[in-house]
Amino acid sequence: MTVLHGKIVLITGAATGIGAETVKLLAAEGAVPILTGRRLDKLQEAASRISGRHGCYRMDVTDTDEVTRVVQQIAAEYGRIDILLNNAGYGVFELFADAPIERFQAMMDTNYMGIIRCTKAVLPYMQKQGGGHIINVASMAGKLSTSKSSGYAATKHAVLGLTNAMRSEFAAMNIYVTAINPGPIDTPFLHTADPGGQYANRVRGYMLKPARVAETIVNVMKRRKPEVDLPRSASIGIRIYGLFPRLADRIAGRWLNRK
Ligand code: NAI
Repeated sequence: MTVLHGKIVLITGAATGIGAETVKLLAAEGAVPILTGRRLDKLQEAASRISGRHGCYRMDVTDTDEVTRVVQQIAAEYGRIDILLNNAGYGVFELFADAPIERFQAMMDTNYMGIIRCTKAVLPYMQKQGGGHIINVASMAGKLSTSKSSGYAATKHAVLGLTNAMRSEFAAMNIYVTAINPGPIDTPFLHTADPGGQYANRVRGYMLKPARVAETIVNVMKRRKPEVDLPRSASIGIRIYGLFPRLADRIAGRWLNRK
């Protein structure tokens, strides 16, 4: 039996991609995944691939009332929420000059405000039960902004800023906070981000498999860490970029900005 056995884990955006993969691994660990997302039929389809105790709830992270009501319902039904995986998010890769203002706002509403809504709803239950773990899926784009990602990268930079402040504030409540920063992953995310497939073709050589990211997330649930960058090679690259931004731009700028 692992440490996750019986743990109630609420996952946002759980129908596809790394959310759905994490659900599978959690079920195999004997945890109780609670799948939430905008389409109940898609959540049930994802849940049909697992066995064991679980739940499916329609919950759009942009709807404050729905988030509050559904979290309340989950807490009443399961008695507690041990882990919150703030995973729901999307991006649209386009030039700043071409992107309508509403797009910046809408991405922020899901990727950043969504985390605020879900965390605010879950926090009182974690406080009452004496602790918990909140994991925010940010991105490499939260550390490094490249061309055609002004809107998306800003949301993920905001997620990282938020995560760091939450970590310091929530420590006193025994609530641990983690950020996960993956590089490109082969998921439906790319259909929206890059419908033409150009970006996907260029990064295919080092694109992560969703199962690998899910494995990292589940490992972090077992052995808490403040922040995980993956793959490791990108993590080293980002540190070098932070230390020598001008030099790194000269050497890798063209490669990084291929979208
Ligand atoms: P995905 O598109 O398969 O998963 C995202 C899920 O979030 C989808 O099921 C979608 O329906 C859901 N979602 C979107 N808006 C929502 C809303 N308002 N309310 C509830 N659910 C909503 O893609 P993926 O890759 O699994 O994305 C998961 C997270 O990983 C996202 O936060 C994304 O920004 C992040 N990420 C993805 C990368 C990639 O290259 N695929 C790279 C780095 C981070």
